[in-house]
Amino acid sequence: MKKLIIVLLVLFSSHVAASPGGIELQSAKIDLDNKASLQRGAKYFVNYCLSCHSAKQLRYSRMAEDLGISPELVELNLMFTGEKIFDGMTISMRPKDAEKWFGVNPPDLSLIARSRGPDWLYTYLKGFYIDDSRPFGVNNVLFPKVGMPHVLADLQGLQKAVYKDVKLKDGSIRKVIDHLEIAEPGRMNEREFDKAMNDLVNFMAYMGEPAKLERQRLGWKVLLFILLMLGVFHLLKKEYWKDIH
Ligand code: HEC
Repeated sequence: MKKLIIVLLVLFSSHVAASPGGIELQSAKIDLDNKASLQRGAKYFVNYCLSCHSAKQLRYSRMAEDLGISPELVELNLMFTGEKIFDGMTISMRPKDAEKWFGVNPPDLSLIARSRGPDWLYTYLKGFYIDDSRPFGVNNVLFPKVGMPHVLADLQGLQKAVYKDVKLKDGSIRKVIDHLEIAEPGRMNEREFDKAMNDLVNFMAYMGEPAKLERQRLGWKVLLFILLMLGVFHLLKKEYWKDIH
């Protein structure tokens, strides 16, 4: 029984997010049942990310079904590059060009919410700040020397880093980023931008696992079944061993 409890605990504990440099992750609220949020997130993703990043594992048709949007509306509002509704989300930029422009290839984002975690993504998207030493004029608190431009600058505006002094063990003083603050406002205020990013991360979490909606419902049924079977096997075992003892 002890082993079973440990296995269950491991299965259900979500991974703990950690970040380098002591930057605290801000938490995104993930709600895969909130279709309105997922729809808004899809719009941001298509408009602001899909020009560089693909999401090959998600088909437009699947997204239409899961998010409750008609295929016609998806084709009209969310597809721009002449793809078919049964295609995955690809991009038309060639990898070679991407490398020339950005130094690295923008990775496919299908599974990014699983590898990085939603809180990391949320903090990353809000973490761009002015840094004139970088090719695109920005850096990122979670991803130092990031090769991605601040593509959301028209919404968020530009942030600057505010530093604080930290005394190290040997007595020397180091400047580290304390927090970011808006230096040039964008079209959204801070609250609106937070909400937009939460919607976007919610969509990316969905993207990583369209089957999750279905699985969450199935999960409890499966668990109940396993527990029932455990009982049955226990009784069977008792029955078999009865004569041997
Ligand atoms: C102009 C092209 C471009 C656009 C548009 C763009 N990105 Fe990026 N992105 C990049 C590049 C290039 C990298 C690789 C950065 C590196 O490795 O230094 C990157 C990296 C990332 C990473 C980090 C991946 C990792 O290594 O874990 C995430 C997450 C990400 N982008 C999300 C987004 C999201 C979400 C959007 C839409 C809001 C977006 N990007 C829009 C070019 C872009």
